[in-house]
Amino acid sequence: MTSPRTSRFPYAKGPDGSRRLGYGADYNPEQWPREVWEEDVRLMREAGVNIVSLAIFSWARLQPTSDSWDFGWLDEVMGLLHAGGIGVDLATATASPPPWLTTEHPEILPVTATGETVWPGARQHWRPTSPVFRSHALRLVREMATRYADHPALVAWHVSNELGCHNVYDYSDDAADAFRDWLRRRYTTLDALNHAWGTNFWSQHYSDWEQILPPRLAGSHPNPTQQLDFKRFSSDALKGYLLAEREILDEITPGTPVTTNFMVMSGIKGMDYADWADSVDFVSNDHYATTGPRSRDELSFCANLTSGIAGHRPWFLMEHSTSAVNWQHINLPKRPGELARDSLLHVAHGADAVCFFQWRQSAAGAEKYHSAMVPHAGEDSQLFRDVVELGRTLEALAPLGGSVREPARVAILFDWDSWWASEQDSHPTSLLDYHREALDWYSALLRLGVRADVVPAHRTELGPYDVVIAPVLHVLPQTLAKELTRYVEGGGHLVTTYFSGVVDENDHIWLGGYPGALRALLGIRVEEFGPLADGDTVGLDPDPAAGVDGALTGSLWTDRIDVTGPDVEILARYRTGTYAARPAVTRRRIPDRGSATYVSTRLGADGLTALLPGLLAPAGVAGELPEEAGGAVEQVVRRDGGNRYVFLVNHGDAEVPLPGLTGEVLVGPPAAETLVLRPREVAVLRQTASPDAATQPHRTR
Ligand code: GLA
Ligand code: GLA
Repeated sequence: MTSPRTSRFPYAKGPDGSRRLGYGADYNPEQWPREVWEEDVRLMREAGVNIVSLAIFSWARLQPTSDSWDFGWLDEVMGLLHAGGIGVDLATATASPPPWLTTEHPEILPVTATGETVWPGARQHWRPTSPVFRSHALRLVREMATRYADHPALVAWHVSNELGCHNVYDYSDDAADAFRDWLRRRYTTLDALNHAWGTNFWSQHYSDWEQILPPRLAGSHPNPTQQLDFKRFSSDALKGYLLAEREILDEITPGTPVTTNFMVMSGIKGMDYADWADSVDFVSNDHYATTGPRSRDELSFCANLTSGIAGHRPWFLMEHSTSAVNWQHINLPKRPGELARDSLLHVAHGADAVCFFQWRQSAAGAEKYHSAMVPHAGEDSQLFRDVVELGRTLEALAPLGGSVREPARVAILFDWDSWWASEQDSHPTSLLDYHREALDWYSALLRLGVRADVVPAHRTELGPYDVVIAPVLHVLPQTLAKELTRYVEGGGHLVTTYFSGVVDENDHIWLGGYPGALRALLGIRVEEFGPLADGDTVGLDPDPAAGVDGALTGSLWTDRIDVTGPDVEILARYRTGTYAARPAVTRRRIPDRGSATYVSTRLGADGLTALLPGLLAPAGVAGELPEEAGGAVEQVVRRDGGNRYVFLVNHGDAEVPLPGLTGEVLVGPPAAETLVLRPREVAVLRQTASPDAATQPHRTR
């Protein structure tokens, strides 16, 4: 259901005209004297760089005062890059307003929920809804587009930068006006809004649109639907700004594709990128690895979701880091092998370009300790040698440009509404972490060697999947509830968890016992939630039918479950806790159809690794890797008509033999009888696919 727009990917071309994977970085030449620019181009060529993002933070240099322009230096850089055969993903340069603008127009500065002004001094200090900001920014966009429309180096437009990174929630008067307009469009009448927001509660009934405000600092819990709508509105406001820039770009350079860098990574939750995907010609993402034991599971999860957002078309990795960043608590450098491994894991999941922040490590400014392709040490460094080697690797992978990820048989649904609503205040627990629960399931699948697609809940055809996992699908509008029912009746196997199906799109409870929207399908009824105190756990006894070896432990949540429907098996019961002896994991198997499983507690990645084989078995889904993989290797497959490209990614620090895996080695260890991955190594094997196998998703029913 993704727009055809997301296929206009700006491939670089090799000397013979064939596609190349993109390779490059954000390039900030304004931080360096003129003589460095030529050295930059020389080193870029040495590394195999074929695309850079330029002028992202250049507004103050391009428009030094409100009525003067200085494009000379950028003309020169564009010319040098073109002469070096390097394409430019040219920024519209609107990301960071210059001091003259914020001095003349302080009314563009965002305001926090507590009424404080977000002052200039860093970047992105602008209100997405400010008409004054918009008129100045769009004037710059028009200047840029007009000046560079026919420049031969221009291959794509880069709107602003990471929209919403620092300014997603603005509570200013501009935001209040725009929020009211957005609400008028959503609800048409005040009666409809009063109903949706449940304003009979706490005397919140509105009699005039002008009385409505963003959820600014309040004495107690602000109205939950007002909060949820403000999150939806804030995502829409930024998307609206993106569309305002693109309208000008489309008018002046209709042939040049437009993108903006999304931030599908943990910690960023304000923008509903599934809803933004149609607004760009190709999806771009920025991802920075987290630290900790599951950091590469998280990387894989986000890359996988980015592919889902892009409708499984090729997408563009716009930024990641060659080594340490500067903004974590402690900024660990990457270990040997990780630079290439992380990049190739994105490629495995459909990235046809690999770019970094940034090309040359800054000597001054807030990001001078952030790694880059050319470090402070210069070209005579291990890091630059690794960068050059990655360039060679990506050249070797040129044949897979344009291939797409082979559909998995298992899907994990991801839903921004559920993420936003399930973590709001005044809930049974404040410890629920939507992203972590989804990642737990993904980690378990990785360990089992089962491939999965992480896909947006509302934009994905479920039918082709054998198993659909819907962790904490909290907001369930009737349409999606019906779709899930049809899916199971059509033979699909649905797995869902605690706090799913509890509210509708207005955040109103589905009444009559939880989970209201899924009660009939699951054949259970929950009278009361039993969240657990921080650190508390409950024991679970699996039934032999569950195929689980040993006991399971739950945390965070329990439910008081009654079985109410036919054909419901109890796969595990609580052994301890308030609900001891009651069902904890249930599965309804509809004869000759599919099944619907409910997991009422947080089992974590370990528990789910034990439980999942039994849940996947009825669908005939099992791990695909040899036992020797030991849970450390991830397999992802990309394919075009006749070829399968099998990525084998060693997430671990030990050598892993992979007997039985064969194919032409495009990247990886030298040919041997048994493929052996070194620590953190990636192999890419080319296999010839049978024409039958090249068809779209397969299911075994
Ligand atoms: C973001 C920004 C970049 C840079 C990096 C640092 O991704 O887009 O400008 O600040 O973070 O990690
Ligand atoms: C107070 C208030 C009630 C209600 C309860 C909830 O007692 O007076 O209106 O909010 O707290 O615990």
